[in-house]
Amino acid sequence: MTTTDAATAARELFTALTGAAPAGLWSAPGRVNLIGEHTDYNDGFVLPFAITHRTVAAVSPRSDRVVRVASTFAPDAVEVPLGDLDDLFPARRDEIAEWARYPLGVVWALQGHAASDATGFDIAIASAVPVGAGLSSSAAIECAVAVAVDELWALGLDRSALALAGRRAENEAVGAPTGVMDQMASMHGEADAAIFLDCRSLKARAVPLGFAEAGLEVLVIDTRVSHAHSTGGYRERRASCELGARLMGVPALRDLGVDDLPRAQELLDDVTFRRVRHIVTEDQRVLDTVRTLGEEGPLAIGALLLASHASMRDDFEISVPELDTAVATAMAAGAVGARMTGGGFGGAAIAVVDRGLVSPVTAAVEQAFADAGYRAPHIFTVTPAAGAGRA
Ligand code: GLA
Repeated sequence: MTTTDAATAARELFTALTGAAPAGLWSAPGRVNLIGEHTDYNDGFVLPFAITHRTVAAVSPRSDRVVRVASTFAPDAVEVPLGDLDDLFPARRDEIAEWARYPLGVVWALQGHAASDATGFDIAIASAVPVGAGLSSSAAIECAVAVAVDELWALGLDRSALALAGRRAENEAVGAPTGVMDQMASMHGEADAAIFLDCRSLKARAVPLGFAEAGLEVLVIDTRVSHAHSTGGYRERRASCELGARLMGVPALRDLGVDDLPRAQELLDDVTFRRVRHIVTEDQRVLDTVRTLGEEGPLAIGALLLASHASMRDDFEISVPELDTAVATAMAAGAVGARMTGGGFGGAAIAVVDRGLVSPVTAAVEQAFADAGYRAPHIFTVTPAAGAGRA
């Protein structure tokens, strides 16, 4: 589905739900992370960009204090009185259908900023962001609803505050212990630029990528190996990072530099050390990538992307064979750089490739997946694009 299709679908779903046209359409993009993985919840640095694939929310205020959400993902709408949200989240979230926790969680997270007699909403959602591909379809839902609610409740919150409301929905209403990168990318995205974000200060700066001028495209290779961050590996990695910081006597791994790694190796068990080494070196790679983009341009960032992938594969251990195959094959077919992107354990890899090599790289990866007996990947290009707003 394209973003235009999603806008049409959201509008039609809204009309089917309410019998009327929506007051407006708001939308927010998915994101690709260029570099800086699992650094966000360690107070570190990330360099994601928003993409043209967007989630659209058709919304109208209601006259009562009820929120009703519908989505093309699910047959039935979910209806909750605003006054019940505090009881439901986080303690009784299991009573709400999973997909509905994202939009309702955002309304819950923003409710504290609204007037006590604020009325509810009808919300219909459709998405052009592929689900489960590591492109932050969940942040796109959260941010589309956040900008709609901000405008209709006249909250006047800034983009970072809305991103934080989205993260709170994700952490507490959905129950996924993620950082703030995805929501910040979706809120702050700019055309042709990545967002260099300090996840401690939340200072965000647009960094021109210059991909188009350099004749480069970003290929997303969705392995279609599904992942979920509310369970398992993601939570474990986060716990290892917190343990590493505690044992090293710092508030967060952000506070360590590569010079601290010898001491970390002496002090920590092997697994915790390797988790720490990934974060510390990844923070440095983000800084190096920002500098390299500015000084030498995008053709020079390949080695940093590859080092990032190797660190995730060997030290953080969040890659899967499909992602490693995607990266190795793209490189062998002439990519400038490639790495897995997002939380890992499945999802997508990105490859930065010369425009003329999009077809051969795509064909090579498809062939390698077929030869290995993997499910056929979805491969498509993405373009750095603007953040959330009116559709
Ligand atoms: C997921 C999370 C983000 C971030 C990445 C890994 O996308 O939602 O907060 O931790 O994984 O970099």
